[in-house]
Amino acid sequence: MKYLFLNHKMHLTFEEIGAYKRDFEKLSWDFLEVAVFPSFVYLPCFMEQSYLVASQDVSSFDLGAHTGEIGAKQLKELQVKYSLVGHSERRKKDCEEEIHEKIQRLQEVGIIPVLCVGDEDRRFFEETLKRQLSSAIDSSVQNLIIAYEPIYSIGTGVVLENEEIEKSVAWIKNFVQENYQKNFPVLYGGSVDEKNIGHLSKISNVDGFLVGKASLDVQKVKVMLEELK
Ligand code: PGA
Repeated sequence: MKYLFLNHKMHLTFEEIGAYKRDFEKLSWDFLEVAVFPSFVYLPCFMEQSYLVASQDVSSFDLGAHTGEIGAKQLKELQVKYSLVGHSERRKKDCEEEIHEKIQRLQEVGIIPVLCVGDEDRRFFEETLKRQLSSAIDSSVQNLIIAYEPIYSIGTGVVLENEEIEKSVAWIKNFVQENYQKNFPVLYGGSVDEKNIGHLSKISNVDGFLVGKASLDVQKVKVMLEELK
């Protein structure tokens, strides 16, 4: 296991993020890469930390007249190492072409994109994933992490059997290898928490986890770190 990514989504107030940081700073790990994905407005609070900070999204545009957007260059200045793109909660607004552009903007400044993909219906897994992967990736993409998050598992408490996740991740790795000759890490996300992460970590081809709800509670993060040791 290499990565534990903590996606706060649009949770936590300014006061709460202060308390979160104070508790989080007491945790320790040296065996995997942990990154916090706070709301955009809190990114500056995470500069100069000993752990990594990451972004939940990025604009598909270069800096310029784009009200309400946040550019890759701006994120880079805030020491952001990774950025999600195509999270299912964003795909409601972003088309596939924009997701491709976002990956390009991130690459230009050296932020590693975390491309989220996931099926809404297991019967159409291959069709959906083929479309999502091939519209986002092209041969210029050198550095990428893929997060496999089945839509029906996000925030629902419904987690597939380990064998099913393993099969899906193997399919993704194989597709990327065959089409782009790349061996990008693949994370699993969707209702991962302190209770199931130990069991999920037995899946041999999963390189890490993208955690939403359970990442908001530092005590749960602490247990997850212990489970992954
Ligand atoms: P969840 O969210 O852990 O709350 O299911 C995961 C995600 O959306 O990345």
